[in-house]
Amino acid sequence: MSTTELTHLTANRIGGSFVADVSGVDLSRDMNDAWEAIHTAYLEHKILTFHGQSLTAKQFHDFGEKFGSIEPHTVVMYHHEEFPGITVLSNRVEMGRPKGIRDAGSHWHSDYSYKAVPANVTILFALEVPEQGGDTRFIDLSAAYHALPEETKQRLEGLTALHHYRCTKDREHPEGRWRLLSETEREATPEVVHPVVRIHPETGEKSIFVFPGITSGIQHIIGMEAAESDALLNGLYKHCTDKRFEFTYKWRAGDLVLWDNRCTMHHASTDVLPADHYRTLYRINTKGTKPV
Ligand code: SIN
Repeated sequence: MSTTELTHLTANRIGGSFVADVSGVDLSRDMNDAWEAIHTAYLEHKILTFHGQSLTAKQFHDFGEKFGSIEPHTVVMYHHEEFPGITVLSNRVEMGRPKGIRDAGSHWHSDYSYKAVPANVTILFALEVPEQGGDTRFIDLSAAYHALPEETKQRLEGLTALHHYRCTKDREHPEGRWRLLSETEREATPEVVHPVVRIHPETGEKSIFVFPGITSGIQHIIGMEAAESDALLNGLYKHCTDKRFEFTYKWRAGDLVLWDNRCTMHHASTDVLPADHYRTLYRINTKGTKPV
């Protein structure tokens, strides 16, 4: 692709503090030439949306590899047959078997935050979406951090929290399924400790890095009494989920959306999607760096 054509790539901010709509790029053709511009826009806007894309599984996989080493999902049955690095999200059932994960997380979370080295990017590519429903919601966690009172920022300095995949104090929680994982999957998801506020390794910006969702499995702040830890975490969750930090994305088939898990969290809404409203997407996550 020529430089002239590349100048057609534009990223227009569509959320308040984050999210840009990118136009002028056909990823099936231009992903190599446009990569630098895409990467710069990704760091600036945290979330990028592309429309009208037509990608094979291989092309989608190739695009994912540009962001780092692809990390297949913990639960093996949802891997794409040919490219295990692609996770299939779908509410379709084929020959009696789910085609993919029906609900990849209808709660606030950041992908793989329960791992010692969480994901940097998540990329979703929509193969089919319903007319209504199945939106994805996002929160800008850097904006949420910057909006905290100075004394709360000081209080969070140096704090760490214990994360454990899908573990919950409520043993009966239907989503608390760590105990249902295979032995190998359990071994891949031990307890991990991360800072409550992390510094973005590429931009240097600070973000809150605790999440109320079950996949994050956040148990408590290390070294703090349970009541104090619960109060602090619940206060942070309430602050972060304020509407002023939120953006909701309505999908169209052919959309590709990518986001930076190091400074955002997201929330699917597939838990309430009627069974005959079909939604199938491919997902890729790449390995980031240990949060500091
Ligand atoms: C996810 O939580 O990774 C998937 C989001 C979605 O399906 O909307």
